[in-house]
Amino acid sequence: MTRYVAMDRLVEDLKAFAGRGFPAMEVRRYLSETLIAPEALEPYIHHRKEHYTRNLVHKDRDFEILVICWGAGQRAPIHGHEGELCFARVERGRLRFSNYALVSENPLRLEPRAAPVDGSIGFLDGPADIHSVDNPLEFRTDAASLHVYSKPYAECDIYDSETGPRRRVKLIYDSIEGVPVERARG
Ligand SMILES: [Fe+2]
Repeated sequence: MTRYVAMDRLVEDLKAFAGRGFPAMEVRRYLSETLIAPEALEPYIHHRKEHYTRNLVHKDRDFEILVICWGAGQRAPIHGHEGELCFARVERGRLRFSNYALVSENPLRLEPRAAPVDGSIGFLDGPADIHSVDNPLEFRTDAASLHVYSKPYAECDIYDSETGPRRRVKLIYDSIEGVPVERARG
């Protein structure tokens, strides 16, 4: 059963889960049944032609909600989630999710866990560990996804390929609570 909610409803429901330790499988079920009303998503839709955008909806000490906007051909490289829970759900368009396992640290080697999966509206990925997300050019349309991270995290490892190198990057926002911000690399 699918229902549509406003963003503040989502925040309140996730706070309730946070009060119970953010039980991953319950949160997963909740997210798979609860879509954001299209008009509630609108303030967080900001596209840039240079890169995908990270748009902050809510952040507290327990969890963070982002809307990520993807132009056709835009891609998040392979990255890790620091052991935190990461859910991603397609809200508009279609996205390709590729999950990896860390097979060896030294030398660095990742292996695909399975064939990439293309998800359309309502598709839920996660909790993810190491993955890449992209909106391939052939999909020919913009996409947007809702992300829930618990706990919030400020940095992550990204991988240039399945054999490295691995780099540490700070995560930045393109808009905060609907207001665009200059993308400053710290
Ligand atoms: Fe991710």
